[in-house]
Amino acid sequence: MAKLSSGRGLQGTDPLVEDYTQSVSYDRALYRQDIAGSGAHARMLAKRGIISEEEGEILVRGLDEVLAEIEAGVFVWKTEHEDLHMNIESRLTELVGEVGKKLHTGRSRNDQVALDFRLFVSDRAREWTVLLQELIGTLADRAEEHAATLLPGLTHMQPAQPVSLAQHLLAYAFMFRRDAERLRDADKRIRISPLGAAALAGTSYPLDPEFVAAELGMNGIFDNSMDAVSDRDFALEAMFCAALIMTHLSRLCEDIIIWANPSFGFVRLPDAYSTGSSIMPQKKNPDVAELMRGKTGRAYGALFSLFATLKGLPMTYNRDLQEDKEQFLDLDRTVSLSLRMAAGLLREIGFVPEKMHAALSRGFLNATDLADYLTVRGMPFRRAHRMAGKAVDEAEKRGCGLEDLPLDFLRGLSPLFGEDVYDALDFSRAAAARESPGGTGPESIKRQIALLRA
Ligand code: ARG
Repeated sequence: MAKLSSGRGLQGTDPLVEDYTQSVSYDRALYRQDIAGSGAHARMLAKRGIISEEEGEILVRGLDEVLAEIEAGVFVWKTEHEDLHMNIESRLTELVGEVGKKLHTGRSRNDQVALDFRLFVSDRAREWTVLLQELIGTLADRAEEHAATLLPGLTHMQPAQPVSLAQHLLAYAFMFRRDAERLRDADKRIRISPLGAAALAGTSYPLDPEFVAAELGMNGIFDNSMDAVSDRDFALEAMFCAALIMTHLSRLCEDIIIWANPSFGFVRLPDAYSTGSSIMPQKKNPDVAELMRGKTGRAYGALFSLFATLKGLPMTYNRDLQEDKEQFLDLDRTVSLSLRMAAGLLREIGFVPEKMHAALSRGFLNATDLADYLTVRGMPFRRAHRMAGKAVDEAEKRGCGLEDLPLDFLRGLSPLFGEDVYDALDFSRAAAARESPGGTGPESIKRQIALLRA
């Protein structure tokens, strides 16, 4: 059979070649966008008098019928039609007859696929934003619950200063808020309509690309037809955003994995989000968190795969570009599922404040506060820092905390020490005192939560 896409009536391709070149097995995911784009194109052709009003209506109605067939699961996708565009157009022509063959007037699959993919990427990116907002809401809820729960804040994985669990959770919430902002910004560039670029050079038909763009809720139209059909920056941008979301999720998962280790014991994993071991009866493994960390590598792979596909491409459309969709679809699945998993896991996870509090007594987390105590009373900070260091040495020797050192010893270091130093060494006071902008103090936490809820 001569191929639908072949003007020269090229005869049937080798079955292996057909299998190798087809994209319909996966690009059918874009059917809604393809049909919406074709509908807008048909209405534009009629408006411009390139086809009659009646023909335009027949095409739009036919496309609706095709859409209904696909959604009802009765549409027959055929590999011999290569991609989703040809599948839909050939079925349309079966349904409406000869007029179906007018749909592609003034259009190429090159601008068609670029339009479909832009609409699809934008739709998915908007869905990621919704999922991000849900996750941010969950983090804010859990933070509100645990504003007064303290745990050791770490740098270099070593005990540093006491922080509120809320502060730790909100750190992630702000990463995810940046991710959502980034997606919203990228959306401006994603939603630029390339339709009207035709194959590469524009067209002599009096098309109205602005009309098509407005019909589809796009943000504007292309400026250069060659760029319009060969550009996939929009997909790269979205994929970068997704890869960065995965990076943030992966770091969060790493914290959860560490906290779930019995040496920490800061969290109890919900049964629904953990698994046992087939050999070790005591095990409760953080598989969901581990897989999310693992899938982050896969997300980077998808992003870099598209980078590599694009780097050597000459102008303009090259069939290599077909490789954009599978990677995007895979990444979309990864990031969408991961965001859902993360929100579920955080909603259900049990925090163990007693274990966190117990951990505060190890690691001299109030050493900075000891130094600050002296600084406030007039000692230059560098000297105060040394004095506090000496106190840490002594506490380590005695096997106690700084708050357990006798006042006599402290006064031996500096006469500035008074009875009230023990208040300054109290962990909750130390954390509560950090009301600097964005700090871990309770008022700061409230402000952060309010910002995230806005
Ligand atoms: N399936 C193709 C793709 O995804 C559609 C565009 C094909 N264009 C062409 N000139 N062969 O890129």
